[in-house]
Amino acid sequence: MAVASSAHSTIFSKTSLFHHINGFKRFSFCLPFSSSAAASISSKKKWRQPVASSELELGGIKIAKDDVVRDDPTNNVPDTIFSKMGMQLHRRNNHPLGILKNGIYEYFDSNYPNLFDKFDDLCPIVSVKQNFDDVLVPADHVSRSYNDTYYVDSKTVLRCHTSAHQAELLRRGHTHFLVTGDVYRRDSIDSTHYPVFHQMEGVRVFTPDNWEASGLDPTSYAAEDLKKSLEGLARHLFGAVEMRWIDAYFPFTNPSYELEIYFKEKWMEVLGCGVMEQEILKSNGRSDSVAWAFGLGLERLAMVLFDIPDIRLFWTNDERFTSQFSKGQMGVKFKPFSKYPPCYKDMSFWINESFTENNLCEVVRGIAGDLVEEVSLIDNFTNKKGLTSHCYRIAYRSMERSLTDEEINDLQWNVREQVQKKLNVVLR
Ligand code: DAH
Repeated sequence: MAVASSAHSTIFSKTSLFHHINGFKRFSFCLPFSSSAAASISSKKKWRQPVASSELELGGIKIAKDDVVRDDPTNNVPDTIFSKMGMQLHRRNNHPLGILKNGIYEYFDSNYPNLFDKFDDLCPIVSVKQNFDDVLVPADHVSRSYNDTYYVDSKTVLRCHTSAHQAELLRRGHTHFLVTGDVYRRDSIDSTHYPVFHQMEGVRVFTPDNWEASGLDPTSYAAEDLKKSLEGLARHLFGAVEMRWIDAYFPFTNPSYELEIYFKEKWMEVLGCGVMEQEILKSNGRSDSVAWAFGLGLERLAMVLFDIPDIRLFWTNDERFTSQFSKGQMGVKFKPFSKYPPCYKDMSFWINESFTENNLCEVVRGIAGDLVEEVSLIDNFTNKKGLTSHCYRIAYRSMERSLTDEEINDLQWNVREQVQKKLNVVLR
């Protein structure tokens, strides 16, 4: 598997109902949120891992742990997620994500001097309105479910994309901007998926004098500029690669596209983009304008550019990782320090109708943290009585050291207990 080819691709395209696993697309069996599904994951006492600090400062705002993690059926944010907030990997100049962010800034700054405003510390706690309504995500879209998004309460979420800031920045009068930040999604576990990752959003607004002289209609003008700008960005990052534009669908753009590059013998999605829906401009004081927008996942690109094989490495403090990267050094290839052996443990259980793989993965991460490398369904059958059994294989592997049998057995014992208790499944 070419690792980064599946790392967090865009969720709002037509394929958004699919999770990209191992290069294949797998249908996600999640129901739109129902209160009973939320209750099954949230109402019971949560198993809590200790967190480093119980107060953070994000974009100048102080956030206490209770502001984000609560024992309340409308809250599904675990401690493990709170402990990642405020890490600001994208703001570290010596970190691959910060180096990539700066590399993209460099492209926009040299091609459009002083034009793009940059934001990288907007608070990730946003309203449901900002995250979904303001960018026209339909009321029944799967991304709104408690299975896919972290809800602080019924009206507040941890942003699942940086598009959540488009409307407010337009309203504040910005016409050219780049927003970088940590985004949060409930998801399955493998080497390319992590519940917190980083995106960059770009927006450029045009006024009639921009397109009038061109002889093009406003939409074609914006689409042409968009393609030219983003092809330039891809060349800046990847060199003289072959590229192609794929028609896509996003609720916030029309027309919408994905840019793919031919890299290491396969086509790889680089970003999603399009001409901003007129309604978004109109609602935010720009009815006379057109705009383009794009969104890209930093981990996905950094894994390819720096040869980083596992998404958990971005979060490690191990010097054997961190010391390999320094400010301004785009695309330095990561040299793996050593690969510790994985240990596999299987568990089988009868599921109930509210069972989802994302809920299972949340429980496993809550216990094993970054020691879990992958959770995969290896067997699935329904018996004559209509009961469905799932067998999951959990791969435990540390990025930093060898794990002892005892440690893994303890983790697995804990996982079995908590899965049974929290997900109401019957172990076999
Ligand atoms: N918000 C999208 C996602 O996370 C990415 C995206 C696609 C952003 C197209 C855009 C855009 O601004 O125009 O899946």
